[in-house]
Amino acid sequence: MQLEEQHRLIDRVLQLETDKTTDMAEHCSAIDVALYRDEKQFHSEEENLFRQLPMIVGHVSQLPAPGDFITHDICGVPVVVLRRQTGELKAFMNVCKHRGGRLVRDEKGSDLRVLVCHYHAWTYDTDGSLRGVPHKDGFRGMPDGCNNLTELPVSDHLGFLWVRLAPFRRYETATQFNRSVEEFLGEQFNADFSSYGTSSHTVFDPVDFHRPINWKLAIDTFLENYHVRKTHRNTIDAMFLDTVGIYERFGCQQRNLYPKKSIVSLRDKPRSEWQLCEHGNMLYTFFPNTLILIEPDHINVSIVFPDGIEHTKLINFTLLPEEPTEKGIKYFRKNNDILYAALEEDFSMAIDIQKGLRSGANQQFLHGRFEQGLKYFHESVEGFCE
Ligand code: FES
Ligand SMILES: [Fe+2]
Repeated sequence: MQLEEQHRLIDRVLQLETDKTTDMAEHCSAIDVALYRDEKQFHSEEENLFRQLPMIVGHVSQLPAPGDFITHDICGVPVVVLRRQTGELKAFMNVCKHRGGRLVRDEKGSDLRVLVCHYHAWTYDTDGSLRGVPHKDGFRGMPDGCNNLTELPVSDHLGFLWVRLAPFRRYETATQFNRSVEEFLGEQFNADFSSYGTSSHTVFDPVDFHRPINWKLAIDTFLENYHVRKTHRNTIDAMFLDTVGIYERFGCQQRNLYPKKSIVSLRDKPRSEWQLCEHGNMLYTFFPNTLILIEPDHINVSIVFPDGIEHTKLINFTLLPEEPTEKGIKYFRKNNDILYAALEEDFSMAIDIQKGLRSGANQQFLHGRFEQGLKYFHESVEGFCE
């Protein structure tokens, strides 16, 4: 992040700390709890958010060489992302055009030169074109070219692997898709992430979690720090200022700053020594489902996918500026142990909430004036899903 921007945020936090207050919305607000349980709402989110918006599914460092691939099931859609021998990135629905068999079964791998269906062995080139059909005579009359794999738009903007589950629109090109990702993120996010250098980072310690909660409950846990004192008293609370934060939105994108207690020490230091990431975590929400936490020497990425109304899959990985040494591996594992312990504390609350929702005790959930991150997020969901 630009130094000027860092200093602006630090000045704001120091002022908030002096005034013993925090960034607040004018009013508290509320949302209908049906948003977490309603079937119609869920289908609208699948259709309008997860099927239509570009989403991160990984990082380019997972596909460094021709033939490398990763697969994911995203909202019920099997997806394979691969690097062709030409170096080009491609994404396809990982579904055979004969009768829907699965092509690539492994979660990741290398040296993929053809995609072979596990059912009757139809074979596809890495550009998605149908290359081989055993006993082809049985399909006499099948027109050429209409049984190629369903290609999905893919981009490596800022080093992330972005995919859209809706196939290319009429006349849409890969370059246009790439530009649409950039535009969707907006100027501020593009500038911030260019400065973080995520294009040249490397993925460390990828791990998936599955939890019995609505996907929005997983997001909610990240978007306020009011809960830290109680929920995270045994893990990360000691580091952070209590319920002090800065919440900014850029269209549907959101940037939250959670300052550490150490930030007050900057009052006694020359501004030339002020580095925001040493004294606060920046949390970026790439709408609708990716949360990126900037820490001094690494970046944590969590991507939230619904897997049913009350089930969620989280894809997590750490980005490091370079391949870690053996000592580095131990250090970053330890860091992740703390992060994932805190995440488990969040999950445990969210699982209770999901159960509580069934009781019918709540008609609404209340968002305090300093929980405006939640308000921003739910307003954006509503904007796409009404
Ligand atoms: S379903 Fe793939 S070859 Fe038959
Ligand atoms: Fe938390």
